[in-house]
Amino acid sequence: MDTPDPSAACRPSAINQLQAQDRAGHNWYRFVLSFPPHLVRDYLKRFGITSDQQVLDPFCGTGTTLVECKKLGIPSVGVEANAMAHFASQVKLDWTLNPDQLRRQAHEVAERTQTLLASDRGELRRLEPDRQQLLLKNSISPRPLHKTLTLLEQLQQHSDHRPLPHGQLALAKALVSKIGNLHFGPEVGIGTIKADAPVVEAWLTEVGAIAQDLQDFQSQASFPPAIVHQGDARQMRQVLTPGTIDAVITSPPYPNEKDYTRTTRLESVLLGLIRDRAALKALKQGLVRSNTRNVYKLDQDDQWIASHPEIQRLAAAIEAKRIELGKTSGFERLYARVTKLYFGGMAQHLADLRPILRPGAHLAYVVGDQASFFRILIHTGELLAAIAQSLGYELVSIDLFRTRRATATRAELREEVVVLRWVGDGQRPLSEHRSLQN
Ligand SMILES: C[S@@+](CC[C@H](N)C(=O)[O-])C[C@H]1O[C@@H](n2cnc3c(N)ncnc32)[C@H](O)[C@@H]1O
Repeated sequence: MDTPDPSAACRPSAINQLQAQDRAGHNWYRFVLSFPPHLVRDYLKRFGITSDQQVLDPFCGTGTTLVECKKLGIPSVGVEANAMAHFASQVKLDWTLNPDQLRRQAHEVAERTQTLLASDRGELRRLEPDRQQLLLKNSISPRPLHKTLTLLEQLQQHSDHRPLPHGQLALAKALVSKIGNLHFGPEVGIGTIKADAPVVEAWLTEVGAIAQDLQDFQSQASFPPAIVHQGDARQMRQVLTPGTIDAVITSPPYPNEKDYTRTTRLESVLLGLIRDRAALKALKQGLVRSNTRNVYKLDQDDQWIASHPEIQRLAAAIEAKRIELGKTSGFERLYARVTKLYFGGMAQHLADLRPILRPGAHLAYVVGDQASFFRILIHTGELLAAIAQSLGYELVSIDLFRTRRATATRAELREEVVVLRWVGDGQRPLSEHRSLQN
């Protein structure tokens, strides 16, 4: 589930929350509004997916679809472009680690870190300036940063490398929830600035929760394969085998001003997943263009929807509104373009996906209406459904998942599940294919 635009009255409703009985595995680290495991279960059931089939999440984020499939004994595969989300999914799917070993090693690391912290002479460790500049200002205070860097060094120096990723993910979770100053409302911002934070204790609590889940998981007999590739959902043929996917359950980004790389910036920088501006730019270029902060001069995804009248009309309406309102900032000038690039990127993704699907494959795309660009309503689900149909997919339904109300306009914003079916190339007359580009 994407984060709704900031102008919406958007307390996450109960339907979108992680239920207590679902926490195991999912709660190791997740986006604030990742879609809930029960939604994945509902669509697996509706599609009749069994353990001899394979599910794909091409925008897998923190891995909700894959973790839920693994719990249910269904093989799955994911693609994710953001290094932090990719890392989180990978770790969340590794249930082989011995929980006692994890606990023991974590306590050793914690002890060494506490000893070092107790003996430090007041000089605080800092990030190199290049890395510090990547952080949102004040997202972590100097003392918690010093403690975190000391802990990270001890984690990295640990001789047995096996448990390290679980320890790192536990730190990522603790950074966001207890150590840093971040506030999610649901857009990421700075909340209360803490002069200090119990870094080691917060980390040990998260490690303990992971160890407990591992112990519970390992009481079950066996698990199906679950792999997550770091890659681009617009070019999946590089990593996935043709004709291997029976169902897709996913939530792509929505066209709004949300920059996913900001949401995950603190932990991405501290874990060394983004080291400088060039790495950040490369990451953004691998994402579907959903906000004006990741639009580049040479972007061409809009070619994919050049002949799609609804999207051209929508982009023209956004640009006309900008002119009417006399808005001239660089970001505002990009609203029409990012709208076209977004739907173009999604068209490219849906086109690229076709050969990977088995004939008869079922697809569920969770998307939300948006009104971030001069309050012009973007019916994301309807437009995505129209693009999919033009690429040869069958539209089964557009289900309502929940609604939110935009504070500014009071307009109802629908969050929907676009349900599609891929009948397969061989079974459709050629005339039915109204492919947009290939
Ligand atoms: C709405 S989130 C998915 C949340 C996910 N359902 C979960 O449970 O955490 C959308 C994800 O798509 C990823 N993404 C955006 N563009 C992508 C692309 N071109 N290829 C792969 N992933 C992409 C973002 O990094 C983000 O993690």
